[in-house]
Amino acid sequence: MAAEKIVYLNGAYLPIEQATVSVLDRGFLFGDGIYEVIPVFGINPLRVDEHLQRLHNSLSRISLDNPLTNAAWKQVFAELLAKNPGNDRAIYLQITRGPHQVRDLKIQLEKCPTIFMMVLQVGAVNISELEKGIETVTIDDFRWHACDIKSISLVANVMLREQATQSGVVDAVLVRDGYVTEGTASNFFMVKNGVLITPPTSRHLLPGITRDLVIELAQENGIECEIRPIAESELAAADEIWLTSSTREIAPVIRLNCRDVADAKAGPVWKKMINIYQQYKQVLRQAQ
Ligand SMILES: Cc1ncc(COP(=O)(O)O)c(C=O)c1O
Repeated sequence: MAAEKIVYLNGAYLPIEQATVSVLDRGFLFGDGIYEVIPVFGINPLRVDEHLQRLHNSLSRISLDNPLTNAAWKQVFAELLAKNPGNDRAIYLQITRGPHQVRDLKIQLEKCPTIFMMVLQVGAVNISELEKGIETVTIDDFRWHACDIKSISLVANVMLREQATQSGVVDAVLVRDGYVTEGTASNFFMVKNGVLITPPTSRHLLPGITRDLVIELAQENGIECEIRPIAESELAAADEIWLTSSTREIAPVIRLNCRDVADAKAGPVWKKMINIYQQYKQVLRQAQ
């Protein structure tokens, strides 16, 4: 996703070419920071309070103070969006512990976080493209026990995605100790006998904002929803499999490990849910 021209860096709005950070920044040296990606429809960020709450949780997990109040964050979002007009966009927000004079893992007392934000061009999701579905493989989830933090240290996710790419598919369904956790940058859902099932939140997966929204919309629209561990052995008999995220929305998985998922077509529950999701976005797009 390409970045729009004007970015936010430590209180200033400036052209992306002029936005620079120190090579001593702990984000650069250690991946010591967190991030958020917030979809925007029209002028309205989706589930902004939930994204800010997750931001707060991630910061507190890594002992980094939240540098702004929620009201101040929202003010910056509005200003940055106004400087980068468009329809369907996403705010990328990253906070690192900033530059420290000594390269040492120990957290210094000096507090100088680096706050960076840019607007990504996302473009409206093409439903007929999405409906074609994606192919995935299961891969052992070797990541750490802190996957609930939206950390910028993403090298494990990069390695897992590369493993999927080398297998000739677009993504992986990650499995830890025989149970599904999530995708490399998405949450996991399965449909069995009309029931939508997703694993519970834990230190082994990111509490996705799209995941929560899908659960909520399912419950509001009469789709039975179950939150429980999903064994890898259940996957072969799944009626539908989806991967959800802010930018991918709800992607149907039509092949897994070189075998069709049901009849290798996006299923009826996905069709129902994607319509509900598009309606939800449309309301947001039109809100002033
Ligand atoms: C590892 C991981 N899990 C799940 C998600 C989905 O989260 P969200 O729905 O908030 O985008 C993401 C999004 O980037 C992710 O990186």
